Amino acid sequence: MKLSEQTIQHILNLQSEYPVKRSALIPALHVAQEEIGYLPLEIQSEVAMLFGLETNEVHSVVTFYDMFYEHPVGKHLLHVCKNVSCQLRGAGNILQKLCEKLQVAPHEMSKDGEFTVIPSECLGACDRAPMMIADTKVIGPILENQIDQILDNVKKNSGRPSPTKNVEEYHG
Ligand code: FES
Repeated sequence: MKLSEQTIQHILNLQSEYPVKRSALIPALHVAQEEIGYLPLEIQSEVAMLFGLETNEVHSVVTFYDMFYEHPVGKHLLHVCKNVSCQLRGAGNILQKLCEKLQVAPHEMSKDGEFTVIPSECLGACDRAPMMIADTKVIGPILENQIDQILDNVKKNSGRPSPTKNVEEYHG
């Protein structure tokens, strides 16, 4: 698996927009992930080479942020908050029920390729605890008996937005 010439050029262009090219690492990882769908180690190494970094430096960034995925993910991402306010209001149960319904472990893709459930740190909507972000939509407070309906509604959405499309729009 390798990045296309177009993606490599996109990353080099991003690097030239920052005084220190390393500052372009996160946008570059978005660009790489947009092409491949996730960031396997071989792609992390390729990105590292473009930045003159060691693979483990890129790996530490990829594994720090839950917006980067080391394994294939579904069309719809369900980021379920697991932080204190949500935990106190039943987020653990919501996470468990979602995983049971979809027959996945956290971070795994459902068999039909539709969903991946990602336990996340505080997502900034504590007043809606327990909550999740499904694709781009904040959902909460979630009741256990709403889970089927929520999954049906999410399935109707177009799925993951493309971070690179935003970059392209930004750069015209
Ligand atoms: S603790 Fe869940 S959104 Fe803040």
